[in-house]
Amino acid sequence: MTGRLNGSTAIVTGGAKGIGRTTVEMFLAEGARVCAFDIEAPGSVSVAEMRAAVAASGDRFVYSRVDVTSEADVARGVEEAIDSLGGIDILVNNAGKGPDPTPIEDLSLADWDATLRLNLTSAFLCTRAVIPHMKRRGSGRIINLSSQAGRSKSEVSNLPYASAKSAVLGFTRNLAHEVGPFGISVNAVAPGVTLTGRVADKLARRADREALAEAIPLRRFGGARDIAGAILFLASPDAAYVTGATIDVNGGRTMM
Ligand SMILES: NC(=O)c1ccc[n+]([C@@H]2O[C@H](COP(=O)([O-])OP(=O)(O)OC[C@H]3O[C@@H](n4cnc5c(N)ncnc54)[C@H](O)[C@@H]3O)[C@@H](O)[C@H]2O)c1
Repeated sequence: MTGRLNGSTAIVTGGAKGIGRTTVEMFLAEGARVCAFDIEAPGSVSVAEMRAAVAASGDRFVYSRVDVTSEADVARGVEEAIDSLGGIDILVNNAGKGPDPTPIEDLSLADWDATLRLNLTSAFLCTRAVIPHMKRRGSGRIINLSSQAGRSKSEVSNLPYASAKSAVLGFTRNLAHEVGPFGISVNAVAPGVTLTGRVADKLARRADREALAEAIPLRRFGGARDIAGAILFLASPDAAYVTGATIDVNGGRTMM
């Protein structure tokens, strides 16, 4: 196989659905060996659907039930992925979720902590677990999912989510500075509204969805392939000299 990721190995967190699953599929199609981390049970419908979608990739795919908010789960998952794939070249910190807009006075500390833990701390835990291995190899790619909410503001998600996704950008830039000398790049992708299952359901219930689409210069919401394409670019040899960068994939909705 001659793909852009031929011979590369990757972990994609939140890989059972949405952008993560499409990233897994595109990485496999480009020749990578991929481990998907997700909280979905191995026997669940989404994992079964995913296995069917990647069946043609044979033994290049591994599913690992890992809760990325758990330090112990992440340590175990990364160790097992390194063993089963023979190393990790690429980590995609994709698992995350944007809760519905909530006025600040109605947010509990527990809501705040849980949202930061899923959308920010998870990237710290997974990255910290792979960095020693990447340093020993003298190379690596870390790709973090931020959001338009973290670049500007969001009509469809809440304050702790936007705060976490902004912090992901600071994490990306500072880590890029720290680990660049070891041959490791760190970049972010900031999607606008993207029609994955959960977000598509949420939008379908909103009376202002047409107005939201009209506000996008390209006049449509994104799809998982739009986002996974940018992730693939950052993982590929074409992005060898890109680090500390954020790629906005939002149809022009927010221009920085
Ligand atoms: N869809 C959008 O509109 C949009 C916009 C901007 C940013 N993003 C970001 O892109 C990423 C993917 O979004 P999506 O829409 O594909 O989400 P999704 O809900 O479709 O899929 C997320 C996956 O993460 C998994 N997951 C959730 N909690 C987990 C945990 N603790 N440990 C491991 N896995 C866990 C879920 O089971 C699911 O398979 C997220 O970080 C999200 O914040 C999405």
